[in-house]
Amino acid sequence: MDDASFYEDEHTQIFLADCRTAPGLVEKPVHLIVTSPPYNLGKDYGTANDQLSYERYLSDVEEWGIAWKELLAPGARVAINIPVDTNGERNGRGNGSRKLTSSKRFLLADYHRIFERLGYIYNTTILWNEGNVSRRTAWGSWKSASDPWVTTPTEAILVYSWRTRKRPDAAGKKSGIWRDEFLKWSLGTWDFAGESPSRVGGHPAAFPRELPRRIIRLFSFIGDTVLDPFNGSGTTTAEARALGRYGIGFDIEPTYCSYAVARAQDICFGSGNPPDPYVPDPAALTKNVNKNARKAARGQLLFTSIDGHPEGNQPTR
Ligand SMILES: C[S@@+](CC[C@H](N)C(=O)[O-])C[C@H]1O[C@@H](n2cnc3c(N)ncnc32)[C@H](O)[C@@H]1O
Repeated sequence: MDDASFYEDEHTQIFLADCRTAPGLVEKPVHLIVTSPPYNLGKDYGTANDQLSYERYLSDVEEWGIAWKELLAPGARVAINIPVDTNGERNGRGNGSRKLTSSKRFLLADYHRIFERLGYIYNTTILWNEGNVSRRTAWGSWKSASDPWVTTPTEAILVYSWRTRKRPDAAGKKSGIWRDEFLKWSLGTWDFAGESPSRVGGHPAAFPRELPRRIIRLFSFIGDTVLDPFNGSGTTTAEARALGRYGIGFDIEPTYCSYAVARAQDICFGSGNPPDPYVPDPAALTKNVNKNARKAARGQLLFTSIDGHPEGNQPTR
């Protein structure tokens, strides 16, 4: 097993690595990417720097898009969950702190410009209303038409296809989606609540299971390979496993990789979410878990340091 390969079994593979290295590590053709990248809003992800200049951030976005292209099967889909716009940028005081900029960044448009230029085929945009507007502070001019700021509480899920919209290998494959689900989810405004860190081992920016669940059932077949390049607490890989897909996840933070392993295992044999705060039990980690996971387990690394994250229950990534 490669050193970056943190865990591997019949259904799931977790890499402790930068997603830009995926082309040298992932051996299966990927049929679906479901992901929520860091938004560069100064979140404390441990290892990752979430406070780059906007230009540097966009150049990272481009590098991600370049790397993922190499993994995709013809007809693959890429679903990226991002906010419509942002107004936060670094203030140089480390992760977790940010200042408001004087202008908004149209993040959705910038992502689209980059992905279209890289050759991804635009498929659709789903608007997700997560119904949680906490810490509203950016009013602009309060009760005055001088310069009011309107907050958009809806996030976008930008969907692209690779090479062709239609899956060329669809014959004989099953999606495992019910009629009512298809009718409802193919209308592109979705309403469900965001995730709370307390339910996912303290990860400050997990998306709810409902998000990858819908995307996976709508856009992939049973038996497909589903990748989350920013797997975090492992929502996507756990859901892929629950839905009969092979899940691959990348993250650069070992504590998140440990949690993702536990979640993937628990999805089959437990409640769907491991106990919180989750401290891996070395005995429970099977022979499939390599030395990195055992090290994380022995050190009981998990999440105690970020449980008290100052942004509380904000689901925004
Ligand atoms: C918004 S969170 C994803 C949360 C995930 N959807 C979940 O449900 O838990 C972004 C994640 O990307 C990880 N990350 C940041 N830069 C990365 C990179 N270059 N490669 C892989 N993971 C990265 C962070 O550690 C963080 O866990």
